[in-house]
Amino acid sequence: MLVFGPARAVAVLSVTVVLSPPARCGLSRLPHISNSAAHWLHPANMFDSCNAKSFYHSKALTSPYPRSRVERAHVPADKVDWLTEWKDYRPVEYTAVSILSGPQWADPQVSDKTFSPKFNERDGEVERTSWNGLYVVENGRPRNPAGRTGLTGRGLLGRWGPNHAADPVVTRWKRDRSGNKVAHPVTGKNILQFVAIKRRDCGEWAIPGGMVDPGEKISATLKREFGEEALNSLQKSPEEKAELEKQLQRLFSQEHFVVYRGYVDDPRNTDNAWMETEAVNYHDESGETMDNLPLEAGDDAGMVKWVDISEKLKLYANHSYFIKLVTEKWGAHWSEEPGPECPE
Ligand code: BGC
Repeated sequence: MLVFGPARAVAVLSVTVVLSPPARCGLSRLPHISNSAAHWLHPANMFDSCNAKSFYHSKALTSPYPRSRVERAHVPADKVDWLTEWKDYRPVEYTAVSILSGPQWADPQVSDKTFSPKFNERDGEVERTSWNGLYVVENGRPRNPAGRTGLTGRGLLGRWGPNHAADPVVTRWKRDRSGNKVAHPVTGKNILQFVAIKRRDCGEWAIPGGMVDPGEKISATLKREFGEEALNSLQKSPEEKAELEKQLQRLFSQEHFVVYRGYVDDPRNTDNAWMETEAVNYHDESGETMDNLPLEAGDDAGMVKWVDISEKLKLYANHSYFIKLVTEKWGAHWSEEPGPECPE
C-alpha cells in the first residue's frame, strides 16, 4: 500500500513507497501525525496547507446540533484549544435519545456500572485508539483532541472518544468522447473525477464512506461501503452480488493510496466523542474497471454520480480536503489560484 500526505507517519509500517515532497507547499508541509500526545497541542492543524497553527475545527462548532434544536455554547476561536484556560466554559450536555436508548452499536453512558471501557486501546472488538495519538480522559470521559466544541455528551455518536469511519475515494480521469483526458482551460492540468454520494441525513455531497464495524478490517469497510452506497449492493440478487463483488475486488485490489488518517471536522463531534477516518484513494487509470460498475445509489446515499474535482466543491465535513490531497498526488487540476508560498 502506498501512503502519502499527513498519513505517512502513522502508516509507516505499511509504507512501500514514499513519494517525494512537492516543490510548493502542500503535503510536505503538513505535520506528520505522530503517536505522541503533544501533537494535539495544536489540534486539527493538519488542515492548514502551510502548517500554520491557526486553524481549529469549525464544523464541529456549528449549531443547531444535527437533527436537533440543540444550540452549542459559543466557543470563540481563541478558546477552542484546551490549553487556553477558560473557567467560565459552560458546554451544553446532549446525547440523542436514539443513542441513550442503547442500540447495540453504541456505548452505554459512562455512569453505567457495567461499562468499563479501555480508552486509548483496542477494547475487544472496539477500536478506541485514535489515529492521532493518546487522548486525555477526564472524569471517565475522553476529551476531544481538537479542542472545545461547546457540547458535552455524545450527541449522535455511539462511541465515547473516537468513532472510526473509512472513506473510499474512487477516481478516474475526465475524458472527452474520443477518450482523451480533458485538461482545465486555465491550469492546463487534467481534471479528475470522483464518485460522490448525496447523504440522506443532511443532503450534502460526500465521499461514500461509513463506519467501521466492531472487529471489521478497514479495507473491508472501504469496499463494503462503496458497494452499499455507490452500487446499491444490498438490493442486488445473489447472482448480481457475486458479479459485483468480482468487479469490486478488481478495483479494490489495485494499488491504492492512504490519503488521510485522523480527526474529521464533523458537525456531530462533541467534547467527548468525535469522528476519525481513513480515506483511501482507488484510482482507475484507464476508466475501464469503473465502466463495468454502473453507479446506483443505495443505503445511506440518496444519489450517486461522478463529480469533476476542483476547489469549488462544497462537501460534507472536511471531505474536500481529502479530495484536494488526491489531486496533489496525481498532479490533477484543483484550483485556478496558485497555492500559497509557505515560509521556510
Ligand atoms: C461518513 C464518512 C465520514 C465520517 C466523518 C461518516 O458518517 O460515512 O464518510 O468521513 O462520517 O465525517
